[in-house]
Amino acid sequence: MAIQIDVVIMAAGKGTRMKSTLPKVLHRLGGRALLGHVLDCAAQLSARQAVVVTGHGAIEVEAACAAMASRSGYFDLNFARQDPQLGTGHAVQQAVPLLLDDGVTLVLSGDVPLTQAATLTSLLDQCDGQRLALLTLSMLDPAGYGRIVRAQAHVSDPLRSGSEASAQVRAIVEHKDATPAQRQITEIYSGIMAVPTRLLRSWLARLDNKNAQSEYYLTDIVKFAVADGVAVVAHQILDAAQVAGVNSPVQLAELERVYQGRLATAFMEQGVRLADPARFDVRGTLSCGRDVEIDVNCVFEGTVTLGDGVRISANCVIANCTIAAGAMIHPFTHIDGEKLGVQVGEGALVGPFARLRPGAQLGAEVHIGNFVEVKNSTLAKGAKANHLAYLGDATVGERVNYGAGSITANYDGANKHRTVIEADVHIGSNCVLVAPVTIGAGGTVGGGSTITKSTPQGALSVARGRQVSLPNWKRPAKQPKS
Ligand code: UD1
Ligand code: CA
Repeated sequence: MAIQIDVVIMAAGKGTRMKSTLPKVLHRLGGRALLGHVLDCAAQLSARQAVVVTGHGAIEVEAACAAMASRSGYFDLNFARQDPQLGTGHAVQQAVPLLLDDGVTLVLSGDVPLTQAATLTSLLDQCDGQRLALLTLSMLDPAGYGRIVRAQAHVSDPLRSGSEASAQVRAIVEHKDATPAQRQITEIYSGIMAVPTRLLRSWLARLDNKNAQSEYYLTDIVKFAVADGVAVVAHQILDAAQVAGVNSPVQLAELERVYQGRLATAFMEQGVRLADPARFDVRGTLSCGRDVEIDVNCVFEGTVTLGDGVRISANCVIANCTIAAGAMIHPFTHIDGEKLGVQVGEGALVGPFARLRPGAQLGAEVHIGNFVEVKNSTLAKGAKANHLAYLGDATVGERVNYGAGSITANYDGANKHRTVIEADVHIGSNCVLVAPVTIGAGGTVGGGSTITKSTPQGALSVARGRQVSLPNWKRPAKQPKS
């Protein structure tokens, strides 16, 4: 039987260097809280439980975790409060009462968002239910990190790193406690470990805080493992971004670029043509069909699906939307479906400068032009609104042509009402359709009309002051000065 995994996520720290009122682990990377990335990663490992250790901003952090977990159907999610925060060992001590002895505990940090599940799976394999497995990394500048002290610890030499890496791990020494010789060690502890839970429990009970920071160091359990004759293995990786933590806005922005760069590469490998991978941002989940082209400076948020052959021009912001095959989104278009979503039909043309809001459902070959806003409206195949218009709470039939400057007056100040525009209607320019109202199929509404009553099929409806022309009209002339 596979060994059960309990994940402990440390998230009690203050994050002083973020200089923010928002708890550090709730800052966003790729549109998701840092902690959300860690929870997602844990979910991929089929962990049976995650215990999030909270302290600073505990109420906010716990509420956010619960919301994230309910959305994606995670494992059993529990919380342990750590107050005050007396170090990483103390943090894990708070979680220990919730852990079961038959499993392995995987310790993660809520501020390390880019760890890949495959890396943790390898670490768990190294642990194998009986060893203490540490995720480590060699760094050119290891200052500040805990150093991996091996049996024949000597000054690090990249040419000898093979032999160094094979020597027995004896301890992790924190930077502030390290001797000058130990500070030369370039192999650092990432902050991530996998440890048999029953051993963890006994080792944590032996921690003290007699060190430079007067903290209970989780890293001290390595000494106890060595003393107890339990094997300690270091699983060394090369990819520093996977274990990089976020402590400041600068680091957050750096990791954001790493994250976006990796996504961009993955999309291009899948065949998506990005004009510039450095000017492409996904803050959510994007899925793309074949032959999708995306120009520069586009931002995708929430859940976005692009069908085959979709083209997105420069400077578009597209959120919570499904765009069907062959549709073209022209520059500077803003789409946000929020909870209702937006659908763009096959071969539709949208923009430039168009705005599609929640509940906009465009059929095939619909055209939405510049400065046209569509909200909670269905446009059937081939309908067009090409210039300066508003369609809200409207049902628009096939092949309707909706003139420049026309609007649906859908709101009476208290309630919203629907406008129905049946197939093949032609609405002239600058019309106001005062809802609730139905424009009968095949009808025409003269430019400048304010329509307050439903119109019959096939009729020309005009509702505006009649034009009057006074012949030979003389404009007033200026009086000569006296
Ligand atoms: C820790 C490791 C160090 C390692 C480094 C990697 C210890 C003693 N040291 O150092 O060997 O190289 O991570 O980044 O473990 N936290 C709590 N409660 C606390 C203290 C910390 O929840 O009382 C949380 C923090 O919010 C953070 C994580 O634990 O998410 C790590 O804490 P941090 O202070 O960043 O650890 P370091 O001192 O950098
Ligand atoms: Ca610290």
